[in-house]
Amino acid sequence: MESLYGVIGNPIAHSMSPLMHNDAFKANGIAGHYRPFLVKSEELEKAVEGLKALGVQGFNVTIPHKRAVMPLLDEVDSLAEAIGAVNTVIRKEDRFIGYNTDGMGFLRSLRESCPFPLDDKKVLIIGAGGAARAIFYSLAASGIQNIDICNRTPERGENIIKDCPFTCTSASLSLQQAEQGMEKYDIIVQTTSVGMYPDTNAMPVNVNRIKEGAFISDIIYNPLDTKIIKTFRRLGGQGDNGIGMFVHQGALAFELWTGIKPDTDRMRTIVQQQLGG
Ligand code: ATR
Repeated sequence: MESLYGVIGNPIAHSMSPLMHNDAFKANGIAGHYRPFLVKSEELEKAVEGLKALGVQGFNVTIPHKRAVMPLLDEVDSLAEAIGAVNTVIRKEDRFIGYNTDGMGFLRSLRESCPFPLDDKKVLIIGAGGAARAIFYSLAASGIQNIDICNRTPERGENIIKDCPFTCTSASLSLQQAEQGMEKYDIIVQTTSVGMYPDTNAMPVNVNRIKEGAFISDIIYNPLDTKIIKTFRRLGGQGDNGIGMFVHQGALAFELWTGIKPDTDRMRTIVQQQLGG
């Protein structure tokens, strides 16, 4: 019998995960099916119970349930606990165990797209929401030592640094401080929604000067190239969009469910086709 997987969220209709995972099941000869489930916040608990009762083998969790799902699971992995969000659930016998593959997915994507090795590099994260937290802790867990964070509300950045269970040297900056010190950083990670369609002319910080050859990774993929990526290129830097993070968080989830490493180039092609890129 086919194993059932899925993604819970609200809204969920535009998720590209079903296409990506169903193709990966087919490509790997696995009898599995992945489908979107629209779940309202007030029905989350019932939905998780239902997924368990129906024998669902694993699922992804997206906005707005990544934090709220945690107390409904039987166990939460330590990185997901530190991040404070779960995006992937696996079933072990009758237990649901929560993981977070967003940050590690980002790290894999960054290693792939960044033209230089990450060790000893100075990183600036723009934004201090859930995505920034996942990325900060995953970079710190991988041994990156210098990670600063800037945000419109600097206290949120301070909280991320304060709660970090891994050792690294960090400062929480205002957006203006980050603008003034931009030349210090080798890698910039853009995690806010600023620059996303339809407001594609916006940037979370002004960028006038960057370090020679600096690399920006923007987790937005609509548009494919945000204004801040284009600005970095114009100033002699390089940049990449959020497709890699999306693909690798999905690939890590697939691996947790099946033990098989899927072909991420194939996954990327499917996502790019879907986005019309
Ligand atoms: P996610 O979980 O996707 O990271 P989030 O928790 O809502 O989403 O975080 C959104 C991030 O984008 C925050 O860092 C937010 O800044 P604040 O913490 O000050 O709210 C940032 N952000 C959103 N709109 C912004 C804007 N117009 N200018 C600057 N930063 C913005």
